[in-house]
Amino acid sequence: MNPARRIAFEVIRAVHESDSYANLLLPSKLAQARLGKADAGLATELSYGTLRLQGYYDRVLQLAVDRPLAKVDPDVLDVLRLGAHQLLGMRIAPHAAVDESAALVGLVGKRSATGFVNGVLRTLARSSPEQWQERALAGLDGDARLAVRDAHPLWIVEAFRDALTAEGRAAELAALLEADNEPPRVSLVALPGLAAPAEVGEPGGVSPIAARSAGGDPAGDPVVASGRARVQDEGSQLAALALSRARPIRAGERWLDMCAGPGGKAAVLASEAAGAGATLLGNEAIPARAQLVRNALAVLPDPPEVVVGDGRRFGEGDERFDRILLDAPCTGLGALRRRPEARWRKQPSDVAALSKLQGELLDAAIQALAPGGVVAYVTCSPHLAETREVIAGAWARHPGLVALDTPAVVQAIATRALELPAALHVQLWPHRHGTDAMFIQLLGAGSGPH
Ligand SMILES: C[S@@+](CC[C@H](N)C(=O)[O-])C[C@H]1O[C@@H](n2cnc3c(N)ncnc32)[C@H](O)[C@@H]1O
Repeated sequence: MNPARRIAFEVIRAVHESDSYANLLLPSKLAQARLGKADAGLATELSYGTLRLQGYYDRVLQLAVDRPLAKVDPDVLDVLRLGAHQLLGMRIAPHAAVDESAALVGLVGKRSATGFVNGVLRTLARSSPEQWQERALAGLDGDARLAVRDAHPLWIVEAFRDALTAEGRAAELAALLEADNEPPRVSLVALPGLAAPAEVGEPGGVSPIAARSAGGDPAGDPVVASGRARVQDEGSQLAALALSRARPIRAGERWLDMCAGPGGKAAVLASEAAGAGATLLGNEAIPARAQLVRNALAVLPDPPEVVVGDGRRFGEGDERFDRILLDAPCTGLGALRRRPEARWRKQPSDVAALSKLQGELLDAAIQALAPGGVVAYVTCSPHLAETREVIAGAWARHPGLVALDTPAVVQAIATRALELPAALHVQLWPHRHGTDAMFIQLLGAGSGPH
C-alpha cells in the first residue's frame, strides 16, 4: 500500500482521538517517513481534504450505512471518510479507492470490518459524485443547503452571511465558502530592512513585503532558513503594516504587541520599529508562546523584550505606548482554509467568551495609549461579535475614542486597489483579496496630533 494513505489515516485519527492539529502533525509525519514530493502531496490532499469536507462526507456516508455513523467504530469510520474523499472529492479510480480502503482497514487492526468497508464504498462508487450531491442536498434550501454542500457548520455559514450582509455583499457567501475549501498558496513575508521580497520569490498579491513561494518547502530557502523571511499570510502582513505605517514614526516611540504569540506580526513590527528608532515590547499570556515570540524576534540585531502576562494588566500602571497592536485571541473563523479540521471543532459558544475577553483587552489597550497614540484592533475572524461589536462596545465605554480611516491607511500600503466597503474598518476576505479574513480597525485616543 502507498504510505500516503496510511499517513493520512494516522493524521485523521490523531485529530479525532487526541485533538491534534493536522497542519502541525502532518509535516512531522511526512519528514519522518521521508516521502517523495508526489506521495507527500497525496498524503496532504488525502488528510486535509477529508478533514475539511468531513461534514459533507458524513452526510453522504449516512445515506449508504444502515446504522447511525456514531455507532460505527471510529477507526472504520475514518477509513470510510478517507475512501469517500477519494471517490467523491479526488475522483480516484473506484477499484483503487475501494481496494486500498479495504486493505487499510485490515492494516489498522480492524480486519473484521473489511467486508463492511468494501460494501459501503462500492455503494458510493456505483453513483457519480454529482448524484450523491443531489441526494445529500435533497430537501435542503438556503443556508442549510450551503452548509452541507460546502461543508461548513451551519452556525459558521450564518455568521459569514451576517458579516457579508453588513457590507451589502451577501451574494458573495457561496464564493467565500468555496474559497475556504481551497488550500491557500504559501505566501512569504520579507522582513523590512532584513530582506527584499524578490530574494525569496515573485512579488505577492496585496502586501508590499510579500513574496509568493516558487513551490517546494519554503524552509529550504536560505533567506527563510536565516529567519529574514518567513511564511505569513498577506492579510496578517497588512494588519501589522497598518499600525506601523498609519503615520510617520518618530524616533523614540514605544510600541506594544499585547498578544504577540507566536510572533508573526511582532517580527514585522519589530523590523519596522528598528528601521525608525522605535522600540517594541512583546507580551504574551502563555509562557511557551512567549518563547516562540522570542525565537521569532531573534533574527533582529537588537531583539525586543518579550514579557509574559495577561494583556489586561496594561493600562493599570503608568506605562504608556505610542502604538499598540491588539491581535486578539479569536475564533479564527477567518483562517479556516489553513486549518482543515478547525471548522468542526469550534463551537458557537466560543464566541461570547472570546468577545468578552476581546473587549477587556481593548479597554486595557486604550488605557495604555500615550496621548496621540494608535491602537490596531485585529482579529482573524470576520464574526460581527468579534469585530464591529467589540469596537462599538469600546466606543460606548470610551467617549474620546476615535476610529481612524483604516481603509485609507491599508489602501495606501497595498500594492493594488482593494475592494473595501465604505466604513472606517477593513475586512479582508479569502475570496475577494486572497488573504485570510482579517479585520483591522485603527483607533486613536482622541487627543494629541492625528
Ligand atoms: C491571534 S493570536 C496572536 C497572533 C500573533 N499576533 C501573530 O501574528 O503571530 C492571540 C494570542 O493571544 C494570546 N492571549 C490569549 N489571551 C491573552 C491575554 N489575556 N493576554 C495576552 N495574550 C493573550 C494567545 O495565547 C495567542 O498567542
